[in-house]
Amino acid sequence: MAHERLLGPGEWEVAPVDGGLSAVGTLAMEAAADLAARLRGVGLGGRPLGVEVTPKLKRGAVRAARTADARRRRDTTPGFTRPGARTDPEGKVSLTPEALALEIGQRWRGQRVIDAGCGVGGNTIGFARAGCAVTAIEQDPHRLALARHNARIYGVEERIRFLNGDARRVVPTLEADMLFVDPPWGVDWDRSHTAVADLPLLEDILEVFHGSGRFGYLVAKVPPSFDPDIIAGAVARAVFGEAPGDYRRVKFVLLEMQLSVTAVTTPR
Ligand SMILES: C[S@@+](CC[C@H](N)C(=O)[O-])C[C@H]1O[C@@H](n2cnc3c(N)ncnc32)[C@H](O)[C@@H]1O
Repeated sequence: MAHERLLGPGEWEVAPVDGGLSAVGTLAMEAAADLAARLRGVGLGGRPLGVEVTPKLKRGAVRAARTADARRRRDTTPGFTRPGARTDPEGKVSLTPEALALEIGQRWRGQRVIDAGCGVGGNTIGFARAGCAVTAIEQDPHRLALARHNARIYGVEERIRFLNGDARRVVPTLEADMLFVDPPWGVDWDRSHTAVADLPLLEDILEVFHGSGRFGYLVAKVPPSFDPDIIAGAVARAVFGEAPGDYRRVKFVLLEMQLSVTAVTTPR
């Protein structure tokens, strides 16, 4: 369960409250301070997470926990692990860590996937390594060249068609089993609440998806603070990191939507 991974060890009494969840548990003081530090400023599912500790934590414990949390955050799931893989500054911050990209890829093993806005290739390479036939679109030619270089490093260049251009124009001319989009979140994305309008590429790709009927599924990688309920039919899955610094952190949320097919029966 996602909440167990997020909250950590302890006996939690979880109950629905006001469209969300509340979790109540008893922890040692250090563990409570650690949890409060870890969840500070975090929003999930479109609303800020609130943490209340009773009795109130001592100032020293809060400070120590925040320092320890900041230190731990340095050890996060790595991006590319192969020597020679390259990124640019924007590609680096938005890169899906290799292990997570591979895990996402497995779900689409062997299928035709379009990556609309591939960056330096984190997800594209994950899909290709899982045996998908990938069409990777990127508007920045330098970043697309990095994606191609990285695909070569991972030995999957042959499974990828690289297209330089605006995905909003290119995608409607294509067809695939799954359309994937990891839209730019912006440098200062809101950690407590994100809406579709904050992710313009997602907004446009959603329109293409619903309008064309040529893609079986749409999968979008969105910030943890995104409210999935605003997209009808979207199934959301929180994805955690794998290293000590992000093991209990929601790195991003994957939204999966299936093309809705209306069955039409003709009377005889
Ligand atoms: C969040 S990054 C993708 C990161 C990628 N998933 C990875 O793991 O490396 C989004 C990318 O979309 C590109 N992009 C934004 N708008 C675009 C558009 N209209 N057409 C094509 N690419 C676009 C940006 O240049 C950026 O490289």
